[in-house]
Amino acid sequence: MRALAKPAAGPATAGPAMATAPAAPPAPAGPAVVLEHLSKRFGDLEAVRDVSFSVATGELFGLLGPNGAGKSTTISMLCTLLRPSAGRAMVGGADVVTERAKVRGRIGLVFQDPTLDEYLTAEENLRFHGELYGMTGSHLGERITQVLEMVELADRRKDEVRSFSGGMRRRLEIARGLLHSPRVLFLDEPTVGLDPQTRAHIWSYIEMLRASEAITILLTTHYMDEAEHCDRIAIIDHGRIAVLDTPSALKEAIGRDRIEISVAEPEKAIEALKGHFDIDATVSEGSVAFYVQDGDQFVPRLFSEGGIAISAVRIARPTLDDVFMSYTGRTIRDAEATSGELLRSSPHVRAAVARRRR
Ligand SMILES: Nc1ncnc2c1ncn2[C@@H]1O[C@H](COP(=O)(O)OP(=O)(O)O)[C@@H](O)[C@H]1O
Ligand SMILES: [Mg+2]
Repeated sequence: MRALAKPAAGPATAGPAMATAPAAPPAPAGPAVVLEHLSKRFGDLEAVRDVSFSVATGELFGLLGPNGAGKSTTISMLCTLLRPSAGRAMVGGADVVTERAKVRGRIGLVFQDPTLDEYLTAEENLRFHGELYGMTGSHLGERITQVLEMVELADRRKDEVRSFSGGMRRRLEIARGLLHSPRVLFLDEPTVGLDPQTRAHIWSYIEMLRASEAITILLTTHYMDEAEHCDRIAIIDHGRIAVLDTPSALKEAIGRDRIEISVAEPEKAIEALKGHFDIDATVSEGSVAFYVQDGDQFVPRLFSEGGIAISAVRIARPTLDDVFMSYTGRTIRDAEATSGELLRSSPHVRAAVARRRR
């Protein structure tokens, strides 16, 4: 099934004010999501700045960036929950400003923050959502069974959500996002706050989903390792897209391997690297580290020509961390730390904290 013929309201926060939309046309062959110069201002803050990209139908696309980069704001505009300050966007072939009801009928959304009703059972949470979307009767019941099976919660159908672990809740939210068979699923930080094992588990559902549901997925994350699952990623920083490509192309474009050697006398090794190969190396966590174009070919030369007594050598391919670093000038961890400091130094946040203490 594709989009609903008669969508009622959009996602939970969207309110029931949606008028009946005309019957959904077949899914368009073009891109599933298109952003053109999309921007969002909050007062003086430009949270999203002139963002343009498109997501192909069937693609798994990731928006990767540190806290405060503008990911949730972008998603909110695409899901019609926030009105863009400038630019435009189309989702599932409909305009997010002028065709909000159509957009809402064609998307599923899993919010960054949990939105389940803890005192309802898994089934009740899904049923409520399905009814908002105009689903009824045996079709709704069958689809509930189907999505619960997909996330392996069928046996917990009648249990209240408050008895669920964090990972189970997230799986139920994903199931809910899928219930009305959306063309495009938005997942805002689907694994944030979960332990590594549960994160891996959630990813196996996302991968499975792609295979079984013929769906386009746009997700956000600030985990580099998770971005590797995406067909393409856009790195977003301070509201701007820094770069967009497949994870492997991004890493290849870095073009350099990181080499670490263990030596008894690091200073001598650094001198020799400079003298023989004109390479600038640094001491990093007890090893001597440097970058070269082609590590596999360089290492034999290092041993035959370098005259350095090396006890161990490691070659590391570029990672998405290196990619992030090369486009933003800092690691994503540093970016997160600064965004935390900025937040704490913000007059609004300080005032709110002071109010709470009083
Ligand atoms: N409703 C709002 N009013 C004012 N500022 C906001 C609002 N929502 C988000 N922001 C700010 O916009 C920036 C981007 O936020 P957000 O999109 O939530 O980032 P991310 O999801 O990448 O962590 C942040 O600086 C945040 O504080
Ligand atoms: Mg966010």
